[in-house]
Amino acid sequence: MQQITLIKELRAVLDAQRAQGRRLAFVPTMGNLHAGHIRLVEDARQHGDVVVCSIFVNPLQFGRNEDLDSYPRTLDADMVQLRAARCDVLFTPTASEMYPQGLEAQTIVSVPGVSERHCGASRPGHFDGVATVVSKLFNMVQPQTALFGLKDYQQFQVISHMVADLCMPITLVGVATQREHTGLALSSRNGYLSAQEKVRAVALYQSLLQAGSSLQQGDSIAGVEAQAALQLAAAGFRLDYFSVCHAATLEPASPQDRALVILAAAWMGKTRLIDNLLVTLPLL
Ligand code: PAF
Repeated sequence: MQQITLIKELRAVLDAQRAQGRRLAFVPTMGNLHAGHIRLVEDARQHGDVVVCSIFVNPLQFGRNEDLDSYPRTLDADMVQLRAARCDVLFTPTASEMYPQGLEAQTIVSVPGVSERHCGASRPGHFDGVATVVSKLFNMVQPQTALFGLKDYQQFQVISHMVADLCMPITLVGVATQREHTGLALSSRNGYLSAQEKVRAVALYQSLLQAGSSLQQGDSIAGVEAQAALQLAAAGFRLDYFSVCHAATLEPASPQDRALVILAAAWMGKTRLIDNLLVTLPLL
């Protein structure tokens, strides 16, 4: 695996690969890799001859009071895992390589609609930061395919809209959420949880499963959301949102909608966790 920190060098290496007709599959990450990321890297092999991964803790997508400084940086351990997963090229730029004019002077990519509710409302500017860094990385790597985890379902929709709106010639692949045996979705932020919090955090996925089966049984959306709020509070969560949405627009679902996603975010102590569940209801 070749580690590269400069954009110029990355372009030279990847241009040479493209010149030989090799297809590039790209997995952008912020590091602190877990089995969910490694699954993306392994799946990337099915989509490309050269697997490119990036690790960059993107300051533009963190709010003022968020965990940018404490976000876990574990490059050595990440590289061991990436080598084992047969990543070919690892791009690890510095913040000044990515944002040479500083964050204030950076052109911003902003995706209306799907970015506005849920995490977009709770974390102002977050999706602008994600869309901006992902579009920069796409321009640097120029992959045929890019893979993202569906745990960040709203992020995947934001990036999908960006790619369509800006006519980027890139196929996006969303990979199913990887979970612990308890059902807890793998996340770099799980490392912030105490052992006791981790046990209680399982309630997030359980509340999604419960809500999904209640919707299948014909319960009302409002009733299902209210029930989940009670269930999460009882487990010790402070709810941010628990929302049954149209799976493509992420607007609140109407009773006629059949393809749904339930999006949830909640605080367990000082840790904000997100998760989601896709639900397809039978035709009316
Ligand atoms: O999902 C992530 O890790 C990040 O939001 C991403 C897509 C790498 C952009 O910084």
